[in-house]
Amino acid sequence: MKVENLEIIDITEQGQGVAKKDNLVYFVEDVVVGETVDIEVIEKKKNFFIGKKIRTLKNSPYYIESNCKYSKECTGCSLLNTKYSKQLELKKELVKNQISRIGNFNIENINIRGLEEPYYFRNKIELKVDENYKIGYYIKKSHKLVPIEECLVASKTINNIMDRLLELIKKYKIKGYNRNKNTGIIKNITIRSNYLDEIQLTITLSKDKFENKEEFIDEIFKIDEVIELYFSINNKKNSEVMGEKVKQYFSKKEFIDKVGELKFKISPKSFFQVNSLNTKNLYDIALKQMKLEGRENILDLYCGIGTTTLYFGKNAKTAIGVEIVEDAVKDANINKKLNKINNVEFVLGKSEEKIEKLLNNNIDIVIVDPPRKGLDKKLVDILGRSKIKKLEYISCNPATLSRDLKYLQEYGFKLQEIELCDMFPHTMHVEALALLTK
Ligand SMILES: C[S@@+](CC[C@H](N)C(=O)[O-])C[C@H]1O[C@@H](n2cnc3c(N)ncnc32)[C@H](O)[C@@H]1O
Repeated sequence: MKVENLEIIDITEQGQGVAKKDNLVYFVEDVVVGETVDIEVIEKKKNFFIGKKIRTLKNSPYYIESNCKYSKECTGCSLLNTKYSKQLELKKELVKNQISRIGNFNIENINIRGLEEPYYFRNKIELKVDENYKIGYYIKKSHKLVPIEECLVASKTINNIMDRLLELIKKYKIKGYNRNKNTGIIKNITIRSNYLDEIQLTITLSKDKFENKEEFIDEIFKIDEVIELYFSINNKKNSEVMGEKVKQYFSKKEFIDKVGELKFKISPKSFFQVNSLNTKNLYDIALKQMKLEGRENILDLYCGIGTTTLYFGKNAKTAIGVEIVEDAVKDANINKKLNKINNVEFVLGKSEEKIEKLLNNNIDIVIVDPPRKGLDKKLVDILGRSKIKKLEYISCNPATLSRDLKYLQEYGFKLQEIELCDMFPHTMHVEALALLTK
């Protein structure tokens, strides 16, 4: 079925265009907000249709030609053809709508901190390899590879080593893993870069032994930028990013990155904010909202390698960070020494299980920065019943943030401020920071 003359009025968080006609809703891929299109309906759902663009009738005023060679096939950056200033507006609207629809809060205006130059900002990417030694990204929700030789959002350091890596994979005929056939070796390549333009390389393999392994390692060693190489074995029938164990093959020096003046050692399995150009701004917004005076005891739940605990802790009396990943807690303790900040400590475990006891340390402010699924309800209930009067919520998912704000409101917390920081240009993802008080 064809539907003609549809104006794209919005973009979903997944990057699909939204159109409405005759009380029906359509979701369309590969469109820009403001564009008018004809579509072919490819799927009928109960309350909406999914369509494929046949032609553009009228270009969007927000359209911009992309410099990315792969923007037609690669689904990673769904907003590459939308002017950056409009991307920021769309994100503001998305958060405003979700906070109001799910959270029941009305916000007039939200500030968003964007990037001056929204390219080459990512310090980490995950690449896949296919059976023909091509390297690239998987198309969204598929195992189909889009081969790439460069990526406009990855740091220049990452871009610089991509072709050399590809050459070695071809030279030593190391095939990518095929999930359907359960054949091939490389399941994933994680490339991380830092402020010194060094690389940490972690390659996930389907098995430990493969032909030419030693030669492959020797040649990777010769790439100057690569200062650490890890292999991770994942022999399950999936292409997960990393297996349980990660083994270091060489280290020319420790892989360390910086946020402001603070230095952080990062292990392969540990979380670190991916946007090198905006992480300091993200943390500074949180600091501004919390107005720390140096007398506070803070509890930083979901603390990763202690970035937030140390960044905020040096402006407070004491800080405790809680993190579930063992390697990240080890990094956090190293980072404490590296930065000579002694008023912080780190606890290994689940935030929802540790919070109740830790609140007994005269905690004044709780900071939460959970993964996309948001806060565990048990944690919200403990926090809600506690004496805590100030909560800083850093979130990478406005939908779960809105849900949690609603629960917290039921315990008397009020939303004082909300601000956004664009950590993920060219996608509809955005980081939100909310200050709540009682
Ligand atoms: C979005 S990251 C934030 C890390 C840190 N605040 C930062 O800015 O680098 C979320 C962190 O929470 C950790 N995590 C996930 N579930 C957790 C849980 N139930 N309890 C404690 N930490 C958890 C993850 O391993 C990850 O390091």
